[in-house]
Amino acid sequence: MKNLHSYFGGMLLLLFSCKSAQSITSTQSSSEEKSLNARIAQMSIEEKVGQTCQITLDVITQTDAKGQTLTPSAIDTAKLNEAILKYHVGSVLNVGWHTLSLDEWKGIIPAVQNPYTTGKTNVPIIYGIDAIHGVNYTVGATLFPQEIGLAATWNPALAKNFGEITAYETRASGIPWNFSPVLDLGRQPLWSRTFETLGEDPYLISQMGSAIIDGYQGGTTPDAYHVASCMKHFVGYSGTNSGRDRTPAWIPEKYMKELYLPSFKAAVEHGALTVMINSGVVNGIPGHINHHLITETLKNEWGFEGFAVSDWEDFIMLHTVHSTSPSLADAYVQAFNAGVDMSMVPLSPQYKEYCTIMVDAVKTGKISMDRLDDAVRRILRVKTRLGLFEKPVPTFENYPKFGCAEFKQASLNAALESITLLKNENSVLPLKTNQKILIAGPTSNNMIYLNGAWTHTWQGMDTAFNTRGCLTVKEAFEKKLGKENCLFTQGAELYADGGFEKTRYVNLNDYKEKLKLVDVVVLCLGELPATEKPGDILSLNLNSEQRILAQIAYEQNKKVILVLIEGRPRIIHDIVAGAAGIVQAYLPGNYGAEALVALMFGEKNFSGKLPYTYPKFDGVIEFYDHPKSVDRSKSGDFSAYNPEWDFGFGLNYSNFEYTALNLSQDTFSDKDSIAVTVTLKNKSSIAGKEVIQLYASDDYASLIPTGKSLKRFCKIDVPANSEVSKTFYLNRTDFQFVGKEGVFIVEEGEFTIRVGNLSKKLSYKKK
Ligand code: BGC
Repeated sequence: MKNLHSYFGGMLLLLFSCKSAQSITSTQSSSEEKSLNARIAQMSIEEKVGQTCQITLDVITQTDAKGQTLTPSAIDTAKLNEAILKYHVGSVLNVGWHTLSLDEWKGIIPAVQNPYTTGKTNVPIIYGIDAIHGVNYTVGATLFPQEIGLAATWNPALAKNFGEITAYETRASGIPWNFSPVLDLGRQPLWSRTFETLGEDPYLISQMGSAIIDGYQGGTTPDAYHVASCMKHFVGYSGTNSGRDRTPAWIPEKYMKELYLPSFKAAVEHGALTVMINSGVVNGIPGHINHHLITETLKNEWGFEGFAVSDWEDFIMLHTVHSTSPSLADAYVQAFNAGVDMSMVPLSPQYKEYCTIMVDAVKTGKISMDRLDDAVRRILRVKTRLGLFEKPVPTFENYPKFGCAEFKQASLNAALESITLLKNENSVLPLKTNQKILIAGPTSNNMIYLNGAWTHTWQGMDTAFNTRGCLTVKEAFEKKLGKENCLFTQGAELYADGGFEKTRYVNLNDYKEKLKLVDVVVLCLGELPATEKPGDILSLNLNSEQRILAQIAYEQNKKVILVLIEGRPRIIHDIVAGAAGIVQAYLPGNYGAEALVALMFGEKNFSGKLPYTYPKFDGVIEFYDHPKSVDRSKSGDFSAYNPEWDFGFGLNYSNFEYTALNLSQDTFSDKDSIAVTVTLKNKSSIAGKEVIQLYASDDYASLIPTGKSLKRFCKIDVPANSEVSKTFYLNRTDFQFVGKEGVFIVEEGEFTIRVGNLSKKLSYKKK
């Protein structure tokens, strides 16, 4: 990365073009189908059912008297043989409760594949794992910012690079299948998994999600350095009304099509090989029995060729939680017939019961042989494309780059481009090395806050597994300034009380005393790592104790820079005005603190942009693409929309200005491609990167139009004192919406194209 202060004497006019993602066409061949059919023809019903069964690793490991997997982890051959030889189980997932060493994986994977490699079975196991921000379950792997931070880079090339590195390190661990990316729409910030999403906009999610898939798979037939991706959680999981995990959502067909489905459709077009189903409920229908979405939409309409796996215990939950199936047998039949091909059962003895019930359901005709064969064909297709029949166990020596410096640099780059500057009053940033600085706050001195959940353990809370050698915010500042020049006191700590996040003060007097000695306070706030049910929260407001820490520093007239280390926008309105600077770090990963320091001292320029609308008040959650009526205020003008910061917002040390917006035509018709050319000027001597964001809106439509919708974006280098131009191409489909008949239409009339503060009118006439 170039140094921030590189200076270019004259004004340059540079032309850039950002590569748009290309869809991958299917490599499915008739010879592949023939060989799949030949395999299926030789399988018994029991063997076929076994292929649809996925168990967790704990089921087949050596355990202590309490059933806990021993450390180091090793396979229990008797349990393995029962699962694979007796029940013909086709898939294994996960780890015990914590991350494993490469050596442990080198023992586990060959042992799991042993029944196949020794010729006792004809089908290899497909092993799956949640490597959602890097290979978080292998010691020493490269951990990146969580997806919400990746989205804030607005840089698909970085997302693809993240995918490639994660795929490499997943394969290095012997695993060919990654339960990632999350493509859920992030519009319910109370939801504990917001940090796993790519933000609130369907276009941004589609672009970034597809880039990750390209990186993971490298095509539709991943080689030994790529893995099968798993787009999840299909679909509507994130739209929970209550904000609690795995609770119902109401999503009208129009918004399902416009907002929730596009990222999954784009992923299918990029060749995603598997999908995981929504554990929640949409419009009263549990995700796992939604035949319309899984079979009709995903498989039939979009032509998805891979397989659908359930989420954790979700076949069972149809009976035990959702109450849509009076018995387990009914639940299994309903889910399987809805189109879910593999059941993450995943425990014992439940998996045995699953296999027995399913065999019976096929024999009694509740599940047709055609449907069973369809599921098995899909599963075997993915196993074939992953090369598992030829090479079920990798050559572990072929992955020398695991955890290498180049990969760490890629993670650091992602953090650098993600961290977002939200406020910089009187240029408090960049910091100067001669300033006296206090580092404080509950998230300032532990790696768990930088990484969040799905880090070494499911909830990411156990500090014992933190990657050695990575720096906390406090340590990164000390590295930069020298320990003696950097004061530290935490002031408060986060803890869980009755399962819910709380904050308590830690030596508040020390905090107050140290405040007196410094010019600047870097106050690190945020939240406890958590995901899924354990991550449910009661309020979006940041705990009051954390906000009071800020207020105490304001009362002493200190320049306070709030660093928000959080996976979603926690409400901080009452401490915004008093802060001199505010930095949104998201969950930036193992190198997040180093990135933060480089940005805060101006060694690098900020270029992250919010992937969500940051709310100001807890009672009003708004989105950038709201229709005009949302904007109507009490006094009747259109100023009600009032977030803390808008979607796409982010400051930097440069001074950018859009100087021109030109369209190739002012009227378009069905086959036209409209060129939109934007010119952006850097009026400063500081080089930077800017995200050019192109929005469009329908001036009038038969159903209320959005105020504006993101249509294209491009992250672009803008040298100091120069001008760059970028041309985007739009076509008819960019102006479509789901009309009264429930299908996408484009209506004749005027549209507005916006980039920055510039806008142009464009009209559409049917041909
Ligand atoms: C989560 C999934 C995850 C699966 C396997 C579930 O509880 O919802 O996102 O892939 O567990 O770990």
